[in-house]
Formats: sequence, structure tokens, C-alpha cells
Amino acid sequence: MSKICVVGTGYVGLVTGTCFADLGNDVTCLDINEERIEKINKGIMPIYEPGLEQLVETNVSAGRLIFTTDYALALTNVEYVFIAVGTPSGDEGEADLQFVRSAAEAISDQVNHPIIVVNKSTVPVGTGDWVTDIINKRRKTTGGEPLDFKVVSNPEFLREGSAISDCMNPDRVVLGSTDRSAAQKIAELYTPLRCPVMITDLRTAEMIKYASNAFLATKISFINEMANMCEELGADVVEVARGMGLDNRIGPSFLDAGLGWGGSCFPKDVKALAHMAVLHGTHPQLLQAVMEINRNQRRRVIYKLRNALNGLNEKTVGILGLSFKPNTDDIRDAPALEIIHMLENEGAIIKAYDPQGAENAKTMIPRVTLCETPYKVAEGADALVVATEWNEFKQLDFERIKEVMNQPVVIDGRNIWDPEQMLEKGFNYFGVGRGSNTH
Ligand SMILES: NC(=O)c1ccc[n+]([C@@H]2O[C@H](COP(=O)([O-])OP(=O)(O)OC[C@H]3O[C@@H](n4cnc5c(N)ncnc54)[C@H](O)[C@@H]3O)[C@@H](O)[C@H]2O)c1
Repeated sequence: MSKICVVGTGYVGLVTGTCFADLGNDVTCLDINEERIEKINKGIMPIYEPGLEQLVETNVSAGRLIFTTDYALALTNVEYVFIAVGTPSGDEGEADLQFVRSAAEAISDQVNHPIIVVNKSTVPVGTGDWVTDIINKRRKTTGGEPLDFKVVSNPEFLREGSAISDCMNPDRVVLGSTDRSAAQKIAELYTPLRCPVMITDLRTAEMIKYASNAFLATKISFINEMANMCEELGADVVEVARGMGLDNRIGPSFLDAGLGWGGSCFPKDVKALAHMAVLHGTHPQLLQAVMEINRNQRRRVIYKLRNALNGLNEKTVGILGLSFKPNTDDIRDAPALEIIHMLENEGAIIKAYDPQGAENAKTMIPRVTLCETPYKVAEGADALVVATEWNEFKQLDFERIKEVMNQPVVIDGRNIWDPEQMLEKGFNYFGVGRGSNTH
């Protein structure tokens, strides 16, 4: 059993802290957002993540997991402090490290015993050294004794929507440090998970995270570029992706053509990596193309709708799905939101439904009518757009949908429906890259 503090109780911090508690550790999750902590202490989860509420409750009841806004309390006698605060995009695309800085300063102010600081946030290469400097300088300026601490980079690879399972069954754990014994201590925390643990230097660990996300984004942009060709050439990208994915060298994952990648990680991380490259005099031409393809993929929906509806002004468009992917309420950089804004700019009237993301989205799309079901969205719509592949959209009552729509136009932005069946049912169907089946 180890005594752990997790600083930042968001998607990563809350899940990581809860999983460490479930493995038998004594965990305190800390956040500066009082409302968030108050809610969690009442059993209300600040995020939607399957299985999370139950796991939090079990571990709180067992006395292994507490939530607080009090740094002094959270850091008392802890052996390991994980930093899991946000690292959003700055104005130039760089990772904004203000939250990491304030977490590091608070650690410097509150801790007076040997400690290992573990960076779980996704941070630019070199941040581990920067955190070390911040803590040392802060001790000096506040007149404190030098702190006995080590910094370890432990990038997180969990996916929202399957975060607990990813956390408990990671493909690998990456640990980077200038101090191997500190990294080995953190490796011991992961021993119960029986997964490969890779120990590297600090900068390499930080780079592994960015390179992994950039590669996954590249895979998606690649298949989207193929999809756009398929549309023109009369091929079906779903079959193309299957045929490619059966090759072990390629693999099937992240080959789903659609509206492109979004969410809280890929957009900001690819941008931050490209920014780092430029800053250090290299030309990130592949990353630039990957981002451009992604932007274009969202625009293509607008072209398709504009053509199918003969212009968008005063047309009613129903959007199915707002979150950036299924099984999460996270709407950060969700394709649906950008598509809605582009449609509104062309005078379209928007209705939308999302099983979990509507509450988070509503202030960002104030003119959109948020509905309780997909059928309400379809009522009077000139077109429907599937923006997120929630399971509940896969088998709708299409007769009913068609009956209540003003025009039976569907843009299946996630290729969840069978093109032939949709055409048979009388829909004017447009998938992504389904050239052999659509117009
Ligand atoms: N969300 C993901 O799927 C995911 C996956 C892998 C890695 N990451 C990375 O993990 C990091 C956290 O991401 P997230 O999605 O959990 O962010 P988040 O925005 O959901 O949560 C961050 C939390 O940190 C808190 N915070 C900010 N400053 C603080 C401070 N000084 N002290 C205490 N708490 C503070 C915020 O109030 C917030 O609750 C990011 O760097 C992200 O790139 C995220």
C-alpha cells in the first residue's frame, strides 16, 4: 500500500486516483475546483465514464479514497504526487503549462519530506526538467530548505469511454526519469496490472506520448484521405479499411473513416508537437497535412449538405451526437460543434440530441434546440447528420424517422448504417468514403 496524491481530478486524475485506490493504495484526489470536489463528495460524478461512479463509491466506502481542495491535507506524508492537470492549447498551438506550474509551486510550498513527483499530464518534451527547476527556484525564493524530490514522467494513454478498463489493463506503462530508482518505485505501483513497463529517460517518455497520439491521428487522417478518394473512384472505404487492417503490419484500429478526430487530446497534442518541432527548427510537414485533412473532413459535411439540400439557408438539420466520441460527455473539440457552427453560419436551423454530452454543450451552441430523443431531432428535419457513433443510433426505427422528416437526407458521418439498406428504405444517404454505394 502506498500513499498517493493526485493533483487535478478531471478525466485522467479522477480515473487514475480511483484505480490506484482500487488496487489497495491510500489515495487523495485534489482539485482547485471546489464545486467539482463538493459534487464528488456527494457521489455526483463530474464526468460521464462507464463504471466510474460505482468504483468511486466502493473505494470511498473502503476508506482508501478521499477528495479535497486542501493541498496541505492532500500532501501530508504522501510518497508520490501525480500531476494530472489540464494542458490546453495556448494561442500559438503550444501546450499551456500554467496549471502544471501552479501544481508544481503548490507542491514546493506544501511538502517538507522526500517525495516523487510524477507527471501524468501530457507535456512538452523538457517539462520534467522545467518542473524540477520550478520546485527548486520556488524553495529558494520562499526561503525554504532544498526539497528532496525526484521527477518521473508517466504519460497517460487511457481513452475516454473505456478509461477504467484502459487504466487497469494498459498496453504498456511508460516511465521516464533521470533517476532510475525513482522510476522503479513508480513501476512497483503498476506491478498488479502485469503489463509491460518501459523505463526511459525523461524526455523520451514525454516524446512517446506525443508521438503515439500524433501517429493515431495520422492513421485517422490517412483513412479519411482514402475515403475522399473512394467517394470519387467508386470504392467503399469500409471494405478498404478492413482489407488493410487484416494485414498484421497495419492492424484494424484507427482506420474508421468519418468526420475526423477531435476531443481533448489529439487536436491539442498534434498542434503542440508541431509547435515544438517549429520551435526547434524542424519542419513538421506530415503533422501539418494530418491537421489540414482533419479540418477539411468537417467541411466536407457542409458541402455534402449544401448540395443535397440546394443551399442551407433556413434548412433544418438534425445532429445525432455532440460528444467527440461515444461513451463520454466530453465535447472538447468535438466535430459536431464545429459542424453546427458552420451550418449556422450558412443560415441553417439546428436540432440535436446526445445521450450524455448535451449538458456540457448547451452553452457553446445556444441557438440549437436540444431534443430528448433522435426521433424528436428528426421531426421536420431536412437532413440528419450522425456526428457521434453512439450505440443507440445504430438501430433506429428508420420508418418512423423517415415519416417525421421533411426530406429523407442523411449524412452518416460515422458510417454506422448500411448504405444499401438506407437507400432501399428511401433515404438519400451519404456515408463517408462509400463511393460504391452512394452518389
Ligand atoms: N482526457 C483524456 O482522455 C486524456 C488521456 C490521456 C492524457 N490526458 C492528459 O491528461 C491531462 C489532464 O487531462 P484531463 O482530460 O483529465 O483534464 P481535465 O480538464 O478533465 O481535468 C483537469 C483538472 O485539473 C484541475 N486543476 C487545474 N489546475 C490545478 C491545480 N493547480 N491544482 C489542482 N487541480 C488543478 C482542474 O480544475 C480540472 O478539474 C492533460 O494533459 C491531458 O492531455 C488526457
